[in-house]
Amino acid sequence: MVYQVYLRSFADGNGDGIGDLAGLRSRLPYLAWLGVDALWINPHYPSGGADGGYDIVDYRAVDPDYGSVADLEALVGDARRLGLRVILDVVPNHTSDRHPWFRAALADPDSPEAARYHFAPPSDEPPNNWQSLFGGPAWSRTPDGRWYLHLFAPGQPDLNWRDPAVAADFEQTLRFWLDRGVSGFRVDVAYGLFKDPGLRDNPGSYSPTLFGHGPEQAMTRDQPEVHDVWRRWRSICDEYPDAMLVGEVCLADLEQVALYSRPDEMHQSFSFRLLKSPWEIAAFADGVQSALDAFGEVGAPVSWVLGNHDKDRQVTRFGGGAVGTARARAAALLMLALPGSPYVYAGDELGLPQAVVPDEAKLDPIFWRSGGVRAGRDGCRVPMPWNASDGVGFSPDGAVEPWLPIPAEWERFAVSSQTRDGGSTLTLYRRALALRAAHSALGSGEATVSTRGDVLTVRCVGDDESVRCLVNMGAGTVLVRTSGPVLLASTTHVKTSAGSIALPPNTAVWLAED
Ligand code: GLC
Ligand code: CA
Repeated sequence: MVYQVYLRSFADGNGDGIGDLAGLRSRLPYLAWLGVDALWINPHYPSGGADGGYDIVDYRAVDPDYGSVADLEALVGDARRLGLRVILDVVPNHTSDRHPWFRAALADPDSPEAARYHFAPPSDEPPNNWQSLFGGPAWSRTPDGRWYLHLFAPGQPDLNWRDPAVAADFEQTLRFWLDRGVSGFRVDVAYGLFKDPGLRDNPGSYSPTLFGHGPEQAMTRDQPEVHDVWRRWRSICDEYPDAMLVGEVCLADLEQVALYSRPDEMHQSFSFRLLKSPWEIAAFADGVQSALDAFGEVGAPVSWVLGNHDKDRQVTRFGGGAVGTARARAAALLMLALPGSPYVYAGDELGLPQAVVPDEAKLDPIFWRSGGVRAGRDGCRVPMPWNASDGVGFSPDGAVEPWLPIPAEWERFAVSSQTRDGGSTLTLYRRALALRAAHSALGSGEATVSTRGDVLTVRCVGDDESVRCLVNMGAGTVLVRTSGPVLLASTTHVKTSAGSIALPPNTAVWLAED
């Protein structure tokens, strides 16, 4: 299981209210105890602060808020000793507008640096209809009246990947970190990078019913050349003992997504279907089946995702409160049973809900650029509660306020109390991960998906055993026949009797089969 660490919110080592590498290092034993195999760290680089670190100023450095390159090397060393691998986030689609290249490009339109971005000559109208994914036009003006392209915030100018200097520089960045012992990269906006050379208008508009980008980004996503970049990056990773790439490929069609993890490209590309599915049996069954099919076609493991730093927390997405929590726990059991590589977002193992962040404390450009119409992503980026007393233990005693306010009631989600509670969500994750490691049928092997009424069943077959994961997605209790013991249930309220169990609504169970 890969654990996603939102660095700024994980653990603050030095008391400035900001999570950092020293804090993360001190919490590595927790991750090893939980049963994590690898951690992916959200961007740790010096950034312009326009988009939570996804606007990078220097790709071969550590933001002083987080520590130093030496701290990162120490983290990697400690992690390895605990059996954990460290994966970094790399952002090739765009830099910060404070990156030295963009500064040079602003100063001189004829500079080599200017050729590394997308500029258009001054005119009254932007060159085409392309829209920023954060809202508003994807073109902004430079002080001298030129237009420049930014598919995200204006502080994130898009790189021109047709300029060979761009590719060469990223290859150096990959090697810089791989030489420091990291085990690979999560690749941001891996479906992006190249744009239609003719800058033609996008032909359609955004559809929220699709699972990713469609015609509204046709000219700015999934251009054929991008696959050659991943082939090149793969060959670099292959020079190192255990380096992997996992791509963020937000395309509507999962078969297109899977093409990014063909054998000579990235090792994995995220399957976001469950992240974007409502709590409905048809959506979940299709989300699992289509991912198994699409990735099976290219021979890559499925990278399952239920939560990340871009989406509302599962508990809230699935209805909030006790019902949302029960569903999030059930969904976790489903994900952890499936063959492939699950990604768990920090705090999901605690059952954290989406936090209510006061508007004035929000930082997400999605909130600000939409004039407050879109809530933004701050509510899933609030710091972790570690202790149930003396504040929540995110920072050491006497520290300044955390960078995003932590709700007072989050003490009840604290790691310290959940470790002692046999019924907690943290205990459930830990048990599930231990069973997953011990059973060949869980996490690898063959899976078959079926539905009957409100119950979704995934039958997982391992070397010499099989396990069924059943999820009751309806409103009533369902009686299920069993032929072996219950390995784990997402609730303590499953009633078992000889040969059957009563599965309450919004719960999941792992059943061994004789
Ligand atoms: C990815 C990141 C998101 C970021 C965007 C732009 O989608 O996950 O957080 O805002 O890329 O870099
Ligand atoms: Ca700090």
